[in-house]
This record gives sequence, C-alpha cells and structure tokens, in this order.
Amino acid sequence: MIRAAITTVAGYVPDYILTNQELEKMVDTTDEWIISRTGIKERRILKEPGKATSDMASAAVLELCKKRGISPKEIDLLICATVTPDMVFPATANIICDKVGATEAWSYDVSAACSGFLYSLVTGAQFIQNGTYKKVVIVGADKMSAILDYEDRSTCVIFGDGAGAVLLEPTTEDIGIQDFILKTNGAGRQHLHMKAGGSLMPASHETVDKKLHYVYQEGQPVYKHAVYNMSEVSVEIMKRNKLSSDDIAYLVSHQANKRIIDATAERMGLGSEKVLMNIQRYGNTTAGTIPLLLMDYEKKFKKGDSLILSAFGGGFTWGAIWLKWAY
Ligand code: UT7
Repeated sequence: MIRAAITTVAGYVPDYILTNQELEKMVDTTDEWIISRTGIKERRILKEPGKATSDMASAAVLELCKKRGISPKEIDLLICATVTPDMVFPATANIICDKVGATEAWSYDVSAACSGFLYSLVTGAQFIQNGTYKKVVIVGADKMSAILDYEDRSTCVIFGDGAGAVLLEPTTEDIGIQDFILKTNGAGRQHLHMKAGGSLMPASHETVDKKLHYVYQEGQPVYKHAVYNMSEVSVEIMKRNKLSSDDIAYLVSHQANKRIIDATAERMGLGSEKVLMNIQRYGNTTAGTIPLLLMDYEKKFKKGDSLILSAFGGGFTWGAIWLKWAY
C-alpha cells in the first residue's frame, strides 16, 4: 500500500511586524483586548509594493526544494490553497511554478479559505497514493492584508500574511496520511465572505466606495461554528481510528483564535503540552497557518508521531486529518 507522507516543510513570513501597539494607534482597540480575545500579539505584513501571495509562496517553495535537495523541475504537481490570489485568474499556483522554475509541473488553486491547506493536502495525496506522482507540493499562502479594512477593528487585528509549503512523497512504511474527514456547508457563507469582485458583484466605483472588497465577518456565529465543527471532526477522526488522547502527539490546528484551539483540544482530551500554537506571532494567515505551524515545530516531531491537523474557515469549510510524521 502506498501512502502519501510529508517529507519536508518550509515557510515564509514577511519581515514587517505589525504589533498590537501599532494597531492601537490605527483603530479603537487595545493590546489587552486582542490578546485576551484571540491570543495574538503581532502579525507579519507584506508591505513591499508589487509583491503578492505568489512571492511569499515562491520563497517557501524554493526553501522547500533546497531543504530536500531537489530541483523545482522534479515537482510533478503543485497545488496552492489561497483566498488572496495574485489575480482572479490565472491561478496563483501557475505563477508560483513560473517563478520557481517548476517547468514540469501542472498546477492549480484551491479555494477553501482557512481549510484550504487541508483540502489541498488530501487532494494532492490522492495522486501519490494511486501511484501517479512522486513529488507533489502543497502550498498554503495568503496576503490577508490585501483584503483587510484597516479601519475595521473587528477584522484587521486578527489576520496576517504568510506562506507555508510541504512536499508529499510516496512511502510503503506505516507513516504519512492515515485518514481524513473534510466538510463543506455553503450556507455558512453569509457569515464570512468578500462581497464584491466576483461575478455576482463586479468591481465598480460604488463597490470600492462602499468598502465591499474587504473581508466581511460576523465573528460570533463563525466562532460558534468553528468550536462546534472543528472539535466534532477532530473527536470523530480519533474515535473511528480508535485513538485515545495518549496516542496523539500533537494537535496542529488552524490558528484563528486561541480560544477556539483550546476548546477543540479540551474536547479531544489533550493537555496544553500537546497543543501547538504560533498565533501570537503570526495571527491568522488563513491557508498559511498549518504549514507554518509544521515548520515552526518540525524539530519537536519524531518519526511515527500521530498528529491531528484540523481547521475551520470561510465557506464554511472544515476538517481533520490524522497523519503519522514521516521523519
Ligand atoms: O479563520 C477563519 C474563521 N474565523 C474565525 O474562526 C473567527 C471566529 N471569531 C472570533 O475569533 C471572534 O468572534 C472574534 C475574535 C472575531 C471577536 O471576538 P468576540 O469575543 O466574539 O467579540 P465580539 O465580536 O462579540 O465583540 C465583543 C465586543 C464588541 O463591542 P460591544 O458591542 O460589546 O460594545 C465589539 O465591537 O468587542 C468589540 N470589538 C473590539 N474591541 C476592541 C471587536 N473588535 C474589537 C477590537 N478591539 N479589535
């Protein structure tokens, strides 16, 4: 049996650090409010003019190839999860391949907001498991600062910019992706979306004047659905694989709100030592959170460690993946 294993992780965050103190000067907020409600202390912002999601993603992919000692030409398929593509079309994945020299790969984007990395990881893994490909790159990248209203305190404090990438390769050992549960509920879109810029409401002077090209979020309903749904699938994937909390090495959760992560971990019966977080440094980088978390904690993992990856986000989309770390 061929399984798909993550064999390398890499990431990129921009240099510019936007602190809570700086945000206090921009909107009516406080460091205390942001930390107590979300756990975020600072986030990274891609400030350079002319730089986009693909630039962060390309830096992550080049680092990934360097770490694994492969040429980008060896990549068979590259999938990019993002809600902040460089352009509406073509796919940002295509632009990344061009920028890194992945000339032999085909590529496409996946739009699943904060669950985009999980959706893409499962999608890419299919090509490995069925023997079609040997090297699939999964990127999660978002330049959230491009779609945030820095006069809206309820959204601009939460998000940040960043990109992470993993390499999937085949293995016949009992490691790699073991099981997944992925869900969608399009009715949830009313609570979290961007109103204009699509075919429903193309860009116009009016849409710009009305600030309709920014993230629209009703925080509380999203919060409630996130806690309920993310913990439900995380507990379900443990149950159906007969995993106890002792069997799980770490929870690698989407970083949207420390309280959501804590609530999920509690329902899974996991102590805080098993809950990985970097939300305090990067905020919510949407599709970037999980690969950036894998990158930051890579040295902690041992071969065979069971990790539960879980996420919830716009769509609504959510899910959980059980994998055994491969190195
Ligand atoms: O990753 C994609 C999925 N997204 C999520 O998972 C986000 C889920 N939602 C959340 O994490 C939380 O709902 C937020 C962090 C967005 C908001 O926290 P909350 O505890 O749900 O606050 P709230 O929206 O209920 O607002 C409470 C109060 C309000 O004031 P009033 O009406 O009580 O006077 C807000 O206006 O906090 C106010 N508020 C702020 N105050 C200071 C909202 N944003 C801020 C702010 N600073 N930045």
